[in-house]
This record gives sequence, C-alpha cells and structure tokens, in this order.
Amino acid sequence: LKTADSPSERVAIGLSNEFPSVAHIAPMLSLGNSYNAEDLKSFDEKIKKLVERDSIEYTVEPKFDGTGISLVYLQNQLDRAVTRGDGAVGEQITNNAKTLKSIPLSADFSSKNIDAIEIRGEVLIRKSTFEAMNKRREAAGEKTFANARNTAAGAMRQKDPSEVAKRGLEAFVYYVGHAVDTAGDSQLIGEIPTHHKSLELLYEMGFKAPMQEITKCSDIEAVIKCVEDWESKREDYPYEIDGMVVKVNELALQEQLGATSHHPRWAIAFKFKAKETTTRLLDIEYQVGRTGAITPVAKLEPAALAGVTVSSISIHNEEYIQEKDIRIGDTVVIERAGDVIPQIVRVVEAARTGKEQVVAFPKNCPDCSTELTRPEGEAAWRCPNRACPSQIVECMIHFVSRDALDIEGLGKSQVQRFYELGHLKGIADIFALPFEELEQLEGLGKRSVSKLKKAIEASKTKGLEKLLYGLGIRHVGKGTAKIFSKQVDDLRDLASWDKEQMEALEDVGPIVAQSILDWFSDPLSQQLLADLAAAGVNLKGTKSSSGAEETTGIFSGTTWLFTGTLENMGRKEAGALVETLGGKLLSGVSSKLNYLVAGAKAGSKLTKAQKIDSVEILTEEAFLAMLPS
Ligand code: IVH
Repeated sequence: LKTADSPSERVAIGLSNEFPSVAHIAPMLSLGNSYNAEDLKSFDEKIKKLVERDSIEYTVEPKFDGTGISLVYLQNQLDRAVTRGDGAVGEQITNNAKTLKSIPLSADFSSKNIDAIEIRGEVLIRKSTFEAMNKRREAAGEKTFANARNTAAGAMRQKDPSEVAKRGLEAFVYYVGHAVDTAGDSQLIGEIPTHHKSLELLYEMGFKAPMQEITKCSDIEAVIKCVEDWESKREDYPYEIDGMVVKVNELALQEQLGATSHHPRWAIAFKFKAKETTTRLLDIEYQVGRTGAITPVAKLEPAALAGVTVSSISIHNEEYIQEKDIRIGDTVVIERAGDVIPQIVRVVEAARTGKEQVVAFPKNCPDCSTELTRPEGEAAWRCPNRACPSQIVECMIHFVSRDALDIEGLGKSQVQRFYELGHLKGIADIFALPFEELEQLEGLGKRSVSKLKKAIEASKTKGLEKLLYGLGIRHVGKGTAKIFSKQVDDLRDLASWDKEQMEALEDVGPIVAQSILDWFSDPLSQQLLADLAAAGVNLKGTKSSSGAEETTGIFSGTTWLFTGTLENMGRKEAGALVETLGGKLLSGVSSKLNYLVAGAKAGSKLTKAQKIDSVEILTEEAFLAMLPS
C-alpha cells in the first residue's frame, strides 16, 4: 500500500473516522520523575543494586511535551495508531495518524526479520508552526489555541482527518515495545541490543527518531551534566519539551529491571523547572488569617506546573488585584520558579470574552461579617473582631504548630474538628480538652488520645520563647519572641512595660513595640494568660541574673544573599536589614551561603542554589516572617 506523500492522498486511505477503544498490547506506563542531581543519583544507585553492576550506560533524550501515541506495524504496514488513553485502553486514531508525514504508512521491517512491531512516540507541534497557526487564526478572527500540547492532543482526535492534516503535526518515536518475527520470537535484545540501536533502526526505516538529540552517557555524572546543559538551552529547541528522559541503554538490563504498575524501573524523567503555563481563574476566595488579615486566594482550573498541580494561588491583597487587573473568569499566566510559591504573572487580556467579572473586594469579614478595616499605609484589609471564628481557629493552629508549642497530634484538621465539636473555643481550651470524650471520636481511640495528652503536657514547659511566639501577636516572629523571652521573669511582666522600654531593646522597632503593647493591654489577652497559668503552663522565663544581653542580632553567624525582584523593599534595603540583625551578606552562591532569598524573576543564582543542599531558599514572604519588625 504505497501512496504519494501528500496529506490529502494519505487521508484518502481511510474513510470512516469513529474512534473505537482498543487495549494496548502492553500498558502505556508513565515515567517516574526526578528534579535534581540527587534524585538522579539515587535512581542510579537503585539500578546498580538491582542488577548488581558497578556502572550503567544511560541514554538521555528530550521528554517531548506532546501527546503519546502507539503505532503497530504488521507485515511492514501501519496497522493501527492508538492514543495513550488511560494507559490500558486508548482510542484508535489510525486515519488521523496517517495524515502525519513523520509516520510512515509502511516500512521495511521484514528486512530486519520483524513481522510485527509496536512503536511508541509523541505527537507534537513545532513551536514556530504553533505560533504561525495562532497568528493566522487571530488574523481570521478565530479563537487562538492556549498551548501546543493541548492543540496536538485535540488535533489527533479531530473527526475529519483532512483537518488533522492542516495542523502541522509531527511524531517523534522513542520506544520499541514489542518486535517479533513470523514465528513470534522477540527480535529485541538479541537483534537489537540497546535502546540507542532501536532508535537507529527506526530512523533508518524513515521514522522521526531523535538521533540528533539522544546522548549516550557512561555514568550518572555524565547524565547530570547532559540534562543540565539541555535545561539551560531548552528555549532554543524548536519543540516544547518539559524535561529529559534518562533510560538504561541495554535492553537486557531493561528487561531485568522490569516495571512497577506505574512506570518502568529502567527509565526516569528529569523534569525542568516549569517556567509558566496558562489556566483559568475560576473564583476568588477570601481567607481570614490569625491576625484578621484577609487574603484573597485565586481558585484556578488545576494546571501542571513544575511537577505539581496548582489549583489555588494567593493574590495577596486588593491593590495587587487592581494592579494586575485580575478578573474572575480571566485566563492567567502562572509561574513557579523552583521552590518558590506559584504566582500569577499576568492576565491574558486577549483571551477576554467580556464575561469576566471585576473583583469587588468584600467590605465585611467572610466569616463573622464584621466590617473590615484598613489602616493607612497597610496593604491588607483586616477583620478587627478578635472573636472571629476563623481567627480563633487560625490562632490555635499557630499555637500548636512546630515552631510554637509543637503539640503533635493536634494538627490543622484536628483543631478545626475539635472547634466544630465545641471542645476548643480558644487557645486555653487546649489544656482542658475532654480526653475521655475524644477517645470516642472516629479515628482517634485510646492510643492516639493518650499520645495527645502527653504532647499537651510536654508543651506546658516549652519555655517562654516558644510560648510568646505561639501567642501569634502581630509582628512577633521567632526572632522577636527570642529577644523578649530573655528580658522577663514572667510573661505577664510585659504587661507593665512601656513603649520606650521595648524600643530600647536591640532590634525592636516602634511597630513591634506598639503591637505588643496593644496585645497586652487587651483584656482578652490578660484573661488568656491567666487561663494558661491556671492550666499549669509555665509562663516563667530564663532571664539571666546578670541581665547580659546578646550583643549580636538574630541573624548573627548566618550568611545571606538576595536575588530577583523583591516586592516589599529593595535588595539593598533588605541586605542592610540583615546586616543590622547580625547577618553577613555574600555576593555569590556557594556552599558558604546559608540563605538565599529569591524574589520574582530570580535567575541563575536561584538555579545554582537549588543544587546546593545546604543553602536554604526562602521566599520574600518567608524572609519577612523571620524579621523581628
Ligand atoms: S519513554 C515505557 N521517552 O512522557 C516507555 N516517554 O510522563 C516509557 N514522553 O507516557 C516512555 N518523551 O508519553 C519516553 N523520550 C521519551 C518521551 C516520553 C515524552 C512521554 C510519554 C510518557 C510520558 C511519561
């Protein structure tokens, strides 16, 4: 069955275009993921152990970001093309596949003694083709496509093959799953000893195998170098790739390693850090924090970004929403650089239909309906009601958290549950939990309640620093809590301090001082302290009798570097702050660095820091949280 190579000729071959479901010869598995050199090293270690070898040869090739396809050739003829589907069963889209020039309708497999072969690959659209297509559609007043991958996947499932032919699709092949001679004996391993050879064979037969792209690596170090090189130049590659695929080259070893129900043990994907993707903003929810601050959170159509699914993103405050002109229903570009929290980069205005809703920031607390307030110069609207249920729950969650009283067994969901059941109405109730009743609750039982009891008992003597931090007073982070805990014999003593006294302490500014003052002068706070004392919580400090203060700041002995654009201050300013607090600034990323604060658009410094385990990468938010004022 030979035809001219024009798409229309190819289309003419098939008539009906229903997509019957067919089972794959062998399941189309996913790949395990890796994100850094360490992941790759442990992949290598595991393999060496399993096959009892000292060294393994790998291949590295692009992970094409398209849509998977399985091609079966019988007696040299393309017999069927099937989508990945759920991995076990896919849709037969043979007629559509036949319109792709890079999928030969026939190939001379019999010259290699192969009677039946299954080949897997990826259908995708070249970046330039995709862009040109979108430009054309835009000019014609048609809707543009959001991204190349979905366009390719959608195109392969078009009912009309002549439409498929117009999309400029290409198919890379990267795997031979099955190849037998007329007697049904496998031609793999014996005739085709390596993965590299199998792709060479396909290439010879007229397939688009990534021979230019594939690299043989004699050890995992070479693999690491290769994937990193590719990551740095991925933009220059004409197709969308979201990582590299590392495979054990020897097919005999592949067979020995086998697969889990999810992925082959002989291959792993190395995922690049996702730059950005687009998705739709479905709604905005408003969360009430423990200090009453209202945080708008964008609810998104779930989107894959840097190996995780993102479905909600904080959009900070009202001003941020206005600045970016974020509307409900908008298509938004979201970004996640490394470990940094995902952000909305911008709105795609061209995608607006006119049905988007301008955001009306609430005037009242979404929980207790109290009218919100916003002091001059502050970004956040706040619920001023200290009895607001959300605030109370958030306060309790903070109080029991790891860096505060660290009460294991009392996590977020338990606090929420006990609050709803009426067992917890505030922080002090934590020390008056009705344990016998709790034992009756589903999923709790005697053992976990007894553990909880012990953890609560232990929390009573965690010390002033943790306790003060746990109280969740605004602007009192861990550093400030430490400073004050050293100053008093009893936490209640702070109630008699005045502002000057506080500001006289190193690293304590007027904002912190005022906040502490406000908190201690509130009768609710005094009641809480009295209740805690009555419950046996130790409010006594460790003030040294000599009264000697630390001469250095909370960051003394630590090294810092700022990169990218910070939202709340300049990098210089941030650096000066760190220095005032006793920290040292470094100019480059090395193993000497303790903290890298990565702002928006952080680049090579962040990438470098991610490769050094001892460097802790902080978001601006996390950095601010560490500051005493
Ligand atoms: S090998 C058993 N190689 O990535 C064979 N897959 O996330 C496993 N993919 O389902 C596949 N480029 O659709 C392989 N060079 C490549 C690939 C590749 C893209 C896709 C494939 C797979 C998915 C796993």
